[in-house]
Amino acid sequence: MPPSPPVPSAPAHRPRTAALVGVTALCALVALVSVAAYVGLDPADARVGLRDFGLHYPVLVLHVGTSVLALLTAPLQLWPALRRRGAHRVIGRIHLFAGVFPGAASGLVLAVMSTYGPVAQTGFALLSVLWFATAAAGWRAIRRGRVADHRAWAVRVFSLTLAGVTLRLLLPLSLVALAPLAGPDADGEELFAMVYPAIAWLCWVPNLVVAELFLRRRSGTAAAAVR
Ligand code: HEM
Repeated sequence: MPPSPPVPSAPAHRPRTAALVGVTALCALVALVSVAAYVGLDPADARVGLRDFGLHYPVLVLHVGTSVLALLTAPLQLWPALRRRGAHRVIGRIHLFAGVFPGAASGLVLAVMSTYGPVAQTGFALLSVLWFATAAAGWRAIRRGRVADHRAWAVRVFSLTLAGVTLRLLLPLSLVALAPLAGPDADGEELFAMVYPAIAWLCWVPNLVVAELFLRRRSGTAAAAVR
């Protein structure tokens, strides 16, 4: 009997490319949807409560613009074609200095001004500080030539940047899931104010845990390869 022809196998890099396309598209979609309410520069369109303080809205607009830039540039750093030294450096600087640093600084101001109470304020404030600190540590590591440390910090920064995505996935999902429990007469704004403080934590703590598990697994695999 003639040997059966080999089953053609998909190139090994195909799943990785599909994952990259998926993450990049998701980040771009969330960025577009997020920015839509703020392009008209009308405080009445803001999706969060605003204090009677003139600077609240301008800081929110600054935060949306810079954080959206951080979200758009983050997945580009993962594309092999853009990881050539020049492109990676240029996109990295835009990501940090026009995206993460001003996004985190304005995020901290917004956290203090949040109208959703101390649990939401603390969740967002801690996220701002960690976002800034992990990005600064990644920048410092590469300036000192510590490439492995730079990569590990970049994974943490990315997981925190994705809080912008997880928040916008979790919020509508939890509102839909909890609406039946709240009853037919439930006020949408009340439900939002109930759910929002929990989301201020749930949008980033699991991301960071997954990032740490990934880093541990990767360093375990590297150690096993050396042995
Ligand atoms: C990762 C660090 C981030 C922190 C600490 C942070 C913090 C905050 C805070 C405190 C608010 C105001 C919420 C309130 O008043 O209660 C806010 C609003 C907002 N943030 Fe962020 N944010 C972060 C990342 C992002 C990212 C990556 C995006 C990109 C999409 C983003 C887009 C927005 C938008 C659009 C709003 C206005 C509310 C809305 O329309 O959904 N943020 N953020």
